[in-house]
Amino acid sequence: MVQLSAEGVLSMADTVKQGAGLRNVVAGESALSWIDGERGILIYRGIDIHALAEQSSFEEVVFLLHRGRLPARAELTALAQDLARERAVPASIAALLKLLPSSTHPMTALRSAVSALGGFDPDADDDTPPANARKALRLTAQMATVVALVDRVRNGRAPVAPDPSLTHAANFLFMLTGERPGPEAERAMDVALVLHADHEFNASTFAARVAASTLADVHGAITAALATLKGPLHGGANEAVMKTLQEIGTPERAEVWVRETLAAKKKIMGFGHAVYRTEDPRATHLRRMSRQLGEARGDRRWYELSERLEALVRAHKGLNANVDFYSASVYHELGIPTDMFTPVFAVSRIAGWTAHVLEQIANNRLIRPESEYTGPRDVEYVPLDQR
Ligand SMILES: CC(C)(COP(=O)(O)OP(=O)(O)OC[C@H]1O[C@@H](n2cnc3c(N)ncnc32)[C@H](O)[C@@H]1OP(=O)(O)O)[C@@H](O)C(=O)NCCC(=O)NCCS
Repeated sequence: MVQLSAEGVLSMADTVKQGAGLRNVVAGESALSWIDGERGILIYRGIDIHALAEQSSFEEVVFLLHRGRLPARAELTALAQDLARERAVPASIAALLKLLPSSTHPMTALRSAVSALGGFDPDADDDTPPANARKALRLTAQMATVVALVDRVRNGRAPVAPDPSLTHAANFLFMLTGERPGPEAERAMDVALVLHADHEFNASTFAARVAASTLADVHGAITAALATLKGPLHGGANEAVMKTLQEIGTPERAEVWVRETLAAKKKIMGFGHAVYRTEDPRATHLRRMSRQLGEARGDRRWYELSERLEALVRAHKGLNANVDFYSASVYHELGIPTDMFTPVFAVSRIAGWTAHVLEQIANNRLIRPESEYTGPRDVEYVPLDQR
């Protein structure tokens, strides 16, 4: 329990303990998305994520996040055309990726390529609001291209040029695999992009806002976000989940694995959340998609193992699956290589990151919190030759 001082106020140390990891700290204002962790609610610009997952598209969500409202039909068509037009990246980006060792993690390659894109951007030297809005849309379009390029280059395969007749979701799978997806795969990819597009002040978004608040450029802020997304406590969890599923192998082995892992005080990736205390509403859709994609391929193996693991972790630890848990089997069923899962997260989250960067710059104040100093004081400086 937090002790109050004689004046009845929290000490700095108490405040830090309460908000370790900035948990429960409101760190700024945003009109983009909101989470009710107790009731499992997520909204983008006021609209429930369930309605968006069932009825919307990634293109529409980009318009919603960037412009603040749903588009009229003609506006949506225009935005889809703008995104399609901006998909290409300079050939130098592929050349740059070829310089990296083939063992480079795709997230390392991706953040390097996106940082480099900042130098090639036609608006590189223009930080006016219209130029920043163009960069936001261009990067949203290009992220899918760069992610596909990262995978193709490291495998020594020729890049696949974007197809402007395809939706963002279908074109991404086409550029990644070289094959145009069927309607089920396209819809699953599109829903996954809708579900991952924004999530309040998550770690990578906050990193982007901190960078943007120094008036660093848009590409720099997105590079900071990509570096932050890589970690297994954040976006890297989806890759770790697939490795877990492959390690366990079959539903029969799951119980022993869960008991041993929890007894060893290890975390099980894809479970728990900093904000949700009930079902993550995004997991509801990803669970269904995992089952449907498995059934369509006549192989329910990964879905059944995931379902078993989810039941066991809930029973043994009271933790719910988060967005990364079922997205692992969904991406696997879509034929996406496991170490590309976190880059795929970025293909979607770029919509939210760029919207947050624009929102931060539009009403900026340098983000600069304080720390509670826990080191010594009054330490005498001893000259080097006397130590
Ligand atoms: C997401 C996450 C970082 C949020 O954590 P948090 O709010 O900081 O909570 P903590 O990490 O402090 O965890 C609180 C307790 O639950 C346990 N816990 C949380 N997530 C756990 C997990 N996935 N597996 C096992 N135990 C977990 C912690 O060990 C801790 O237990 P303790 O009180 O006995 O020490 C955490 O749940 C986690 O690491 N999950 C796995 C990674 C993941 O899936 N990340 C993607 C998030 S979308």
